[in-house]
Amino acid sequence: MSNSNKIDEEIFYPSEEVIQQARLKNWNDLADFAAKDLEGFWEKEAEELEWYQKWDKVLDDSGKPFFKWYTGAKTNIVLNAVDRHQKTYRKNKLALIWVGEDGDVRTMSYFALNREVSQFGNVLRAMGIQKGDRVTIYMPRIPEIIIAMLACAKVGAVHSVVYGGFSQDALQERIDDSQSKLVITADGGWMNGKIVELKKIVDASLRKCPSIESVIAVKRTGHDVRMEPGRDYWYHELIKLPIANGFCETEQMDAEDPLYLLYTSGTTGKPKAILHVHGGYMVGVYTSLKYVFDLTDQDRWWCAADPGWVTGHSYIVYGPLLMGATTFMYEGAPTYPYPNRWWALIEKYGISVFYTAPTAIRGLMRFGESWPKKHNLTSLRLLGSVGEPINPEAWKWYHRVIGNERCPIMDTWWQTETGSFMITPTPTVPLKPGSGTRPFFGQEAEILDEEGNPVPDGEEGNLVLKNPWPSMMRTIYKDPDRYVEQYWSKYPGKYLTGDSAKRDKDGYYWIIGRVDDVLKVSGYRLGTAEVESAMVSHPAIAEAAAIGLPHEVKGQAIHVYCILRAGYNGNDELNEELIQHVAKHLGPIAKPEKINFVDSLPKTRSGKIMRRVLKARAQGLSEGDISTLEE
Ligand code: WT7
Repeated sequence: MSNSNKIDEEIFYPSEEVIQQARLKNWNDLADFAAKDLEGFWEKEAEELEWYQKWDKVLDDSGKPFFKWYTGAKTNIVLNAVDRHQKTYRKNKLALIWVGEDGDVRTMSYFALNREVSQFGNVLRAMGIQKGDRVTIYMPRIPEIIIAMLACAKVGAVHSVVYGGFSQDALQERIDDSQSKLVITADGGWMNGKIVELKKIVDASLRKCPSIESVIAVKRTGHDVRMEPGRDYWYHELIKLPIANGFCETEQMDAEDPLYLLYTSGTTGKPKAILHVHGGYMVGVYTSLKYVFDLTDQDRWWCAADPGWVTGHSYIVYGPLLMGATTFMYEGAPTYPYPNRWWALIEKYGISVFYTAPTAIRGLMRFGESWPKKHNLTSLRLLGSVGEPINPEAWKWYHRVIGNERCPIMDTWWQTETGSFMITPTPTVPLKPGSGTRPFFGQEAEILDEEGNPVPDGEEGNLVLKNPWPSMMRTIYKDPDRYVEQYWSKYPGKYLTGDSAKRDKDGYYWIIGRVDDVLKVSGYRLGTAEVESAMVSHPAIAEAAAIGLPHEVKGQAIHVYCILRAGYNGNDELNEELIQHVAKHLGPIAKPEKINFVDSLPKTRSGKIMRRVLKARAQGLSEGDISTLEE
């Protein structure tokens, strides 16, 4: 839900207790330092981490917008997330607490994590995976997804995690684009009491993926799956082999060497692979988690996202482990078997910092306060929100019912591309529900009109970032031109976010939403073009246009307008068939809310569908400038 046109002036101040606890009492101390000395700030942060070899230069902008950070340095994110903890008391503390939807529990100390990551790293090397090779990971939320990511990073392979909620076309496209040699998956995972058939989807995708040499499957559910001899291997068998011992050398990587690819939706049908690197990404994620959630190694941190999205990469896996904290992960649905599952987990495991998305809060709000009220949530000290604007109503519920009015809410604005928080408060900053407050240390934002002039405070415009930052994407994999074109050409020298926003008189930023053809459905990013191409792959559909319309829980829901081919009838049966078709090809998250059968679509004279016009019509709003419309 967007909070456009409304700027809420209610302000929440931190309590004495929050200020007492906070590592950073005064935002300005660091903001001023970073504003004066950007490189100095990021050098100081980097010095808190381990490097095999230090950098020659903190920031190299000679090839901008292809910025480089910590050039000349050698490290590996695993050196800091796992290896260095072995030398301290953290060796014996919990790195991970995991709860399955079915009630299974697994915990791992940093020692155990290192051991299993090393074992699996040895397996990867034995299978011929080398530095720079791409590996696709398509898994449920189980401990092995974390182990797989870390093992890839450890041996210098580039992981490409595909969210388990995507289906065969999405997976196939991503495997093919990355030219992965290996897929790591599972027989399935538990979600809402049912098995998600991941292995089956992998098998279907691999019919069209010649780059894949082998598949490794984790046995999670134990139900029957087909294993192709000579191609498919069980994880639990591989890690019992003598080669899979617990000693595995961590590959020394250049700071600028790729760590992972993560596909995200843009304006075209083809998802783009955002590339992040070992050095700068590590520093950005570490620094942001340290100041924003004030994380220490005393914390039990729960980021309730999925590792398949950037939120999970940065803040389930890498960030908390870089901090030496305990990261908590739950496999299943928040409402299974009852709508108190999350609250029960917070109580049982003493979660101290909890980070989720507005759509989840709105969804759980519907079940009423009695569910969280059954639980003692006093272990919480901070809350977080991410993924889309949080409407003030949901913010206040979260603050009052979950945080008991004690816990500040860190509304963190960022993107797959930014790698870490870009507009965000820290715990002692006064909060306004629905605003992520101000740009993080070292960053400056601007709101520009189409000509590139800053708009006056209170007016809407395009949000841009002015300064480079260490965890920024380095390029779009295999498509550097698109990187320059998409992010750096509308306003040369400034990073175009694709969001519209307003700034208020106190300098607080209010995100309104995407200005491009990107949808945010339950916080998930999807391109209208991807939904449209899934639709037209059905024989009944000649043409389709997808738009997002406001939805009470999901934020946005997908509405499709389509023209049928001759001989088809737009009846209920076809409607249902099309919804299932999209789910099968793209994934359940992309299911249209409503399909409308129409005779024509609004188009420009050059034949581009004017989704903006469809959207305005659906909401009974003015159609705006339609001078280019030719219906
Ligand atoms: C888009 C990026 C980065 C983590 C998850 C999403 C929207 C993200 C907020 C927020 C308002 C937000 C923006 C952004 N967004 N966080 N706190 N308030 N909007 O990553 O899938 O790359 O999506 O999510 O529209 O551009 P992503």
